[in-house]
Amino acid sequence: MSPYRLTRTLPEDTTGAALRADVLAGLTSTPKWLPPKWFYDARGSELFEEITALPEYYPTRAEREILIERAGEIAAATGARTLVELGSGSSEKTRHLLDALTALEAYVPVDVSGSALDQAGRAITAERPELEVHALIADFTARMALPETPGPRLVAFLGGTLGNLLPAERAAFLSSVRALLSPGDGLLLGTDLVKDEGVLVRAYDDAAGVTAAFDKNVLAVVNRELGADFALDAFDHLAVWDAEREWIEMRLRSRTAQTVKIQALDLAVDFAAGEELRTEVSAKFRREGVRDELAAAELELTHWWTDAEDRFALSLSKAR
Ligand SMILES: C[S@@+](CC[C@H](N)C(=O)[O-])C[C@H]1O[C@@H](n2cnc3c(N)ncnc32)[C@H](O)[C@@H]1O
Repeated sequence: MSPYRLTRTLPEDTTGAALRADVLAGLTSTPKWLPPKWFYDARGSELFEEITALPEYYPTRAEREILIERAGEIAAATGARTLVELGSGSSEKTRHLLDALTALEAYVPVDVSGSALDQAGRAITAERPELEVHALIADFTARMALPETPGPRLVAFLGGTLGNLLPAERAAFLSSVRALLSPGDGLLLGTDLVKDEGVLVRAYDDAAGVTAAFDKNVLAVVNRELGADFALDAFDHLAVWDAEREWIEMRLRSRTAQTVKIQALDLAVDFAAGEELRTEVSAKFRREGVRDELAAAELELTHWWTDAEDRFALSLSKAR
């Protein structure tokens, strides 16, 4: 049995530079924002898993449907011996790929959420003793140093997570992914598609309030890590469709005028009644846009698959 390895490139202490810098920049801006990667402590990752099972949250089911149907084609088109998965979370859907990639020798899941990553990494090691599993706690928006594993390499980025990056961040990210690939290596990308506004808004504002709890979890993370005093019930969750930019925004709206203190930053942040804090962007895509963004990063779209209802797309592109 290959040994399971967990490597950390993020500082253990999330009160470190990155969280402080993001909270300071985001909460002193107009309008206020926080980056979505800070949702994902252990509780945030659990809440995200609950979201994936909600009746309103179609992306996980749609992407799984495509993976089940196309995993054989993906294996044949890539011949991957290493699968690197960025933002892997629970690696649930990935099992379909692992089953189909018959030449696979190494799996490298990468995530900021150490708890979700470690749990998934250990489970997959137990299920597939022949596979080398090397889990990496890292920020995929920063420079990543991957372990030495055999090529061809396939990088998977599932769950529509690309849409959580702003357009300029997406361009930088896709270039950094391209830098991880040799000519002929592949990128398997899951992107949610533009569709009816009501369907989109409900997917990010479910009736049971799980997404609201997930959204507010970022405040709990800032409270715990930076000694802030956000009252979670003093904010309402909302999901808004921006038709021009074709993205959903998750926001937290302050119920009243209030001041929040953040001890570790020696900062007091004023919120007006009704003021909104943007916590996530989730861009929705069209085929041409994905093709062009990939091409700008020297990745050539070779396959485009959608689910039966055309809600979600999985694409394969190759490094030139
Ligand atoms: C929308 S979830 C998708 C999870 C899984 N891939 C799926 O399809 O269900 C986003 C995942 O990316 C991780 N993540 C978010 N921002 C990240 C970053 N900057 N670096 C590494 N992982 C990140 C989160 O912890 C979470 O597991």
